[in-house]
Amino acid sequence: MIIAVRAPTPAAKPGEKRAVISAAVTDAKNAVNKFWNFMPKLLPEAELLFARSASCGGGNFNRARMLYSLLRNSYNIPMKTGVLGGTFDPVHLDHLQLIKGATKALGLQRVILLPTLNPPHKKEPPTPYATRLEMLKIFASECGENVVIDELEREFAPKAYASETLPALVKKYAGDQLYYIIGSDSLRKFTEWKNPEIVASSMPIAVYPRGKDDEIEAETARLNAMYPGARFIPLPYKSNGLSSSDIRFKSETGDTEGVKAALTPNVAAFVIERGLYLSYSGIVDRLRSEQPEGLFQHSLRSAEWAVTHAWLAGTGFSESFLSALLHDSAKPFSPMFPRESYPEGTAPPVCHQYDGAYRAEHDFGIPDKAVRDAIMYHTTARPGMTKLDELVYLADKLEAGRDYPGVEELRKLASEDLSRAVYESLIRTREYLINKGERPDNLTLQAAEWYNRKK
Ligand SMILES: [Fe+2]
Ligand SMILES: [Fe+2]
Repeated sequence: MIIAVRAPTPAAKPGEKRAVISAAVTDAKNAVNKFWNFMPKLLPEAELLFARSASCGGGNFNRARMLYSLLRNSYNIPMKTGVLGGTFDPVHLDHLQLIKGATKALGLQRVILLPTLNPPHKKEPPTPYATRLEMLKIFASECGENVVIDELEREFAPKAYASETLPALVKKYAGDQLYYIIGSDSLRKFTEWKNPEIVASSMPIAVYPRGKDDEIEAETARLNAMYPGARFIPLPYKSNGLSSSDIRFKSETGDTEGVKAALTPNVAAFVIERGLYLSYSGIVDRLRSEQPEGLFQHSLRSAEWAVTHAWLAGTGFSESFLSALLHDSAKPFSPMFPRESYPEGTAPPVCHQYDGAYRAEHDFGIPDKAVRDAIMYHTTARPGMTKLDELVYLADKLEAGRDYPGVEELRKLASEDLSRAVYESLIRTREYLINKGERPDNLTLQAAEWYNRKK
């Protein structure tokens, strides 16, 4: 339903409760008559709203929207409402783009933002809920009245699952047509969700593309057939590829302009004033002072590749960021130990991966062994590669500054399947070294064999 509203006539005397309103209503035959029936009750409040909106410089559209929400609240008119859950750590311009895209595609009249208390699928704790909520409130106030926040997940502490929150939302917003908005990356793992059948039957699920997006149509059709009563809808919306991880990367590496460009103005001011996402700036500064400029930029680009692809590996921001950032931290100083300290047959250029793991622990105080291992095998790989190992191995070889024959093909492969990209890269490295008359590292040969057996 669309209602257009005109402001009070200039002839209305001060204090007189009179307004001239014209309405254009679509999608409901009797709505115009109903609308005029409402008017006597609405007029006093409508005048107040007009005054408010005029003082804020709002146009007719804002007035119409305010009047519509007044109508809805007074007369329980059902609303088409999108539900967008997320960690919002931080909330950024792609969220805004998504809200606009979903609103247009689904004809939404309102979007509810549902901040996640503790993400069930992420192993790293997010920024405290209160801080994220503060950011989200600033963001919602910049979006306008049809974007609201619901803190429902608080009622399900410590962890809320969609199979609990969606039925609760249906009850809370009874009569409204709710749509749950999710990314295609979540959709691919839908059957692993807790009680997916409850989620699927709660409300229609609108899916926006994230990463490999050419399978959305097929995947939504498959899930519609799998869950009776389910309605999975592909959203014709394309993200700009911005992610919270990317923004955290920018902040950690001192790219304030990049942070500002990715957030709404007031959220950016909040993030900068509060000094959010600066946990590792000391490490970044130390690396900057130690590495030649070219190597430092390679380290930064590797870290950026890692954090923006971490969702494919299921790894957390910190481990992805730190292991890729520090993978070459020993390069200017390597080899740091006598030759016999390294595994037999280690070529001199490979020593820096072991030295890097040593430095991560002793010079940078990284307690996480998984991070140090990912650094330790970033050049050679190893049998039994973890997802973090794969991420860092590929970040080093595929970061944006890399340019060698076949790199684009490997990048594409990595965006679909990290393991296959590592295997392909190992085979190419093996061939390249053999053609040059050099013997590949034992670990490289063993890793290639391990992947070959896994196929
Ligand atoms: Fe390296
Ligand atoms: Fe490197």
